[in-house]
Amino acid sequence: MSNKSASVWTSIRFWRRSAAWVTATAVVLLMWLTFDTVKQISMGSDEDLKKGIRKRIPAPTVINYHIDYKFSKKRGHEVPVIGQKEPFFGKEWSPKEAAALLHKGKLTFQAKACIDCHTALGNGAYYAPDLTKAWLDPKWNNGTMTAMIGKKTKEEAMAEFLMHPDKYPTHGRMMPNLHITKDEAIALVAFLKHMSSIDTNGFPRNFSINAKRLKGGTNAH
Ligand code: HEC
Repeated sequence: MSNKSASVWTSIRFWRRSAAWVTATAVVLLMWLTFDTVKQISMGSDEDLKKGIRKRIPAPTVINYHIDYKFSKKRGHEVPVIGQKEPFFGKEWSPKEAAALLHKGKLTFQAKACIDCHTALGNGAYYAPDLTKAWLDPKWNNGTMTAMIGKKTKEEAMAEFLMHPDKYPTHGRMMPNLHITKDEAIALVAFLKHMSSIDTNGFPRNFSINAKRLKGGTNAH
């Protein structure tokens, strides 16, 4: 039948076998990657937070903690660092309350179409600043916004800004008044605070607390 002296590259049997092996290896690899991804993106629990176990996506109760953004030499970019407990809108939120608040924040974020102008976790537009790490933006920490808005805490200042952004323009472009209620604003701030605690491998890359400090604190997203 087949000519024994012919090169292996012309053998149909060889190519069939190769195709089967490549397909089988790819299936195994993709299955492994799928399980690994699911592990990486599943949300941590309140217990993890209490025990100091760090998950890429912390539990909603992370809103009860101070969140920092620190440069990791090993990884070559900044990573969220969850610190001590701090009150959020004057209280500590139970796991149930925190989850409900984040849910409301997410629904409001969708209903008000924030990503028509902003980007969150890679989705959205670049008309306005990327919101993925907005909670960690130095201008909300260094007193600029709290002083301008006249509130003591970062969360109160941010909520007030979201309710009346037209009163506090900080950029050439102004955010319009979206008629956000107080409850919605609190939920949105919780949503933003939780989002900032997610380990996004340093993305967005152009958001760097260090870079901003060097440039003199401008919000160069
Ligand atoms: C029509 C476009 C538009 C929409 C829709 C919009 N924003 Fe904005 N937003 C802007 C602009 C422009 C700025 C920058 C204005 C400024 O800083 O004064 C801004 C600024 C912000 C800031 C401050 C940025 C920072 O880095 O601290 C936050 C927080 C924010 N928006 C949240 C939201 C949320 C939450 C929503 C949805 C409820 C939303 N925005 C919807 C245009 C928009």
